[in-house]
Amino acid sequence: MNNPLQPDRIIIFDTTLRDGEQSPGATLNVEEKLSIARQLARLGVDVIEAGFPFASPGDFEAVQKIAQQVGVEHGPTICGLARATRQDIETAAKALAPAAKPRIHTFIATSDIHLEYKLKKTRQEVLDIAPEMVAYAKSFVEDVEFSPEDAGRSDPEFLYQVLERAIAAGATTINIPDTVGYTTPSEFGALIRGIKDNVPNIDQAIISVHGHNDLGLAVANFLEAVKNGARQLECTINGIGERAGNAALEELVMALHVRRQYFNPFLGRPPESEAPLTNIDTRQLYKTSRLVSNLTGMLVQPNKAIVGANAFAHESGIHQDGVLKHKLTYEIMDAQSIGLNDNQIVLGKHSGRNAFRTRLKELGFELSDQELNRAFLRFKELADKKKEITDWDLEAIANDEVQQVPELFRLEHVQVSCGDHARATATVTLHTPTGEELTDAAIGTGPVDAVYKAINRVVDIPNQLIEFSVQSVTAGIDAIGEVTIRLKHDDRIFSGHGAHTDIIVASAQAYMNALNRLYGALQAGKSLHPQHDEMTQLV
Ligand code: KIV
Ligand code: ZN
Repeated sequence: MNNPLQPDRIIIFDTTLRDGEQSPGATLNVEEKLSIARQLARLGVDVIEAGFPFASPGDFEAVQKIAQQVGVEHGPTICGLARATRQDIETAAKALAPAAKPRIHTFIATSDIHLEYKLKKTRQEVLDIAPEMVAYAKSFVEDVEFSPEDAGRSDPEFLYQVLERAIAAGATTINIPDTVGYTTPSEFGALIRGIKDNVPNIDQAIISVHGHNDLGLAVANFLEAVKNGARQLECTINGIGERAGNAALEELVMALHVRRQYFNPFLGRPPESEAPLTNIDTRQLYKTSRLVSNLTGMLVQPNKAIVGANAFAHESGIHQDGVLKHKLTYEIMDAQSIGLNDNQIVLGKHSGRNAFRTRLKELGFELSDQELNRAFLRFKELADKKKEITDWDLEAIANDEVQQVPELFRLEHVQVSCGDHARATATVTLHTPTGEELTDAAIGTGPVDAVYKAINRVVDIPNQLIEFSVQSVTAGIDAIGEVTIRLKHDDRIFSGHGAHTDIIVASAQAYMNALNRLYGALQAGKSLHPQHDEMTQLV
């Protein structure tokens, strides 16, 4: 990139850990955020929006640790979100201080509807606050991003004025959010074109876009924005985020990759150029998708583009025949290009600890000695039941070990008896946070119901199970089963994940995982929401 402000490629700004984590139930703890951040760095994203540091001490710590451990010299830029207030900006600056390349992203709404009902401010006040807060952020870091929230519904003439002032005050990226997912591709493209043509100092900043998927148009809007001058895309893995989510990173990256001949001229390149349009290592996409799905409990729909279970499955006879004759008849991209076929059989019953550790390292898992010991025991148990262990099995085990939801309640033992002529009965033994070991039993409509009722008799926190799903990690009757659940407590949603060859054990683990998140959250208190919670201080 010769001129960093006018790049000839697309900058990928990942906001899985900020906007993605704002999805109900997707809450992650510090260790989980760190493992996602490490994987995002391996994926090759340019910027990681690591969180909203002012939200809570936990959010601050997560941003700070990501800045320290992932924001290294040749690593990605680490960004923290801040509303346009001094307190938010100071807190973000402190959390980002350890990063080699820190960025503060500050925002204030510009649509009349937000001004009147949310901010209760005039246009003139916003015109004053935006540059003042950009300049304040600039006093801490060189790299400042400014967003006019709800730009998609803002008066363009007013938007141009706000942006001009923000750039004059030092913003090096101006981000245009379609906060409520309202615009259509041609409108969004025209909005970006209008900004390029009407903001006099626009050549001093990179144009970025941010958008929500309420009408299913976020990715299409972004691609139109690229054609009209946007050079940074704000997106999330699996498209998770507020409401219908954000633009999906994997869809944008693969669209730009597969159709690069179409997009090349918009970036001033010859159409036939093979040079990648992003820095993303596409072979890491599938793995990143699985990690985010497992840790957030946000399942990927089977027909989801790029990373859904059916995205590369050729079910119908006609398609299979075509694909066998020549792949390109029905395939526009190779499963290998997203890392989907990298599922080789790697280890077996006789593999030792060293081979196990080495393969996990190659897969990008840096486990502590204690985690490695536990993971190795689980690997041996699995290898006894299943002859051939694949990378996906190893990932399922390692992901489970790095989940690190503190085991305040720990499952010691679970046993069920069930069948078509028996009443499902479960006995569980749990360790409580006070160190007691308690055993209880219950009868249920089926084995999972019986196990959950028995656990409820020990962990007395009222909740409602709202989602339960089982998926197998690999094909075959001996495969590991992964259970993902979501439960609701007082309007807050918590997810849980468990993996085991016995799906009843996996179900019990998933429930304990969600209960531990719930219990931990009750102790930690609530995080502030950057867009919905009241500002505690004006500027
Ligand atoms: O959707 C939105 O407007 C946001 C901003 C904070 C950039 O997430
Ligand atoms: Zn958003």
